[in-house]
Amino acid sequence: MTINIRAAQATDLAAIAEIYNEGIRGRLATFETRERTISDIQGWLGDLRHPVLVAEIHGKVMGWISASSYRNRECYAGIAEFSVYVAGQARGKGVGSALLSAFIPACEKAGLWKLVSRIFPENEASRALCRKHGFREVGIYQKHAWLEGNWRDVVIVERLLEAKLSIPSQS
Ligand SMILES: CC(C)(COP(=O)(O)OP(=O)(O)OC[C@H]1O[C@@H](n2cnc3c(N)ncnc32)[C@H](O)[C@@H]1OP(=O)(O)O)[C@@H](O)C(=O)NCCC(=O)NCCS
Repeated sequence: MTINIRAAQATDLAAIAEIYNEGIRGRLATFETRERTISDIQGWLGDLRHPVLVAEIHGKVMGWISASSYRNRECYAGIAEFSVYVAGQARGKGVGSALLSAFIPACEKAGLWKLVSRIFPENEASRALCRKHGFREVGIYQKHAWLEGNWRDVVIVERLLEAKLSIPSQS
């Protein structure tokens, strides 16, 4: 099976939203419960600091990965949060791994020096994917948010990148 990874474009937004909404409904990936429309997510594209990639199998988008701003403060400009979602029918076949393999150099090229994410402790697939790609589990935020009648913890993960931008001088 050939997995083609490329930058996301506007024509991918419907597939990205569909895959995201499947993940939201699964309740194992995110605290989000509101499903997204194309107009909710179109602002993700075109930000050179925050790459968005898709994975195609036989020309159909089956997964995506995106970076987003970690904090507004300038000192954190090189840190991004990331999200990765694969269509249910394509999970466990290396799509997530192919996305991360391309995403990490794309983020380095964009000048990011760190990726972070938060994962539900029960999300074994996501934790395994992150471990495989060099993420460190920093610790657990306890009772990080309330989801459908329960407090939920999250595992914080981080991965340092080799940013291609020079760090501003402190002098
Ligand atoms: C998490 C997710 C993106 C992983 O993508 P994927 O394409 O299924 O993962 P891959 O097939 O590339 O597997 C990557 C690694 O994780 C392991 N893995 C995959 N699914 C697993 C599972 N259910 N349990 C344990 N390990 C798993 C694989 O064995 C592989 O490691 P290996 O190569 O050392 O064997 C995908 O399962 C998904 O979209 N889940 C729903 C959304 C989600 O949870 N996103 C993450 C939000 S933080």
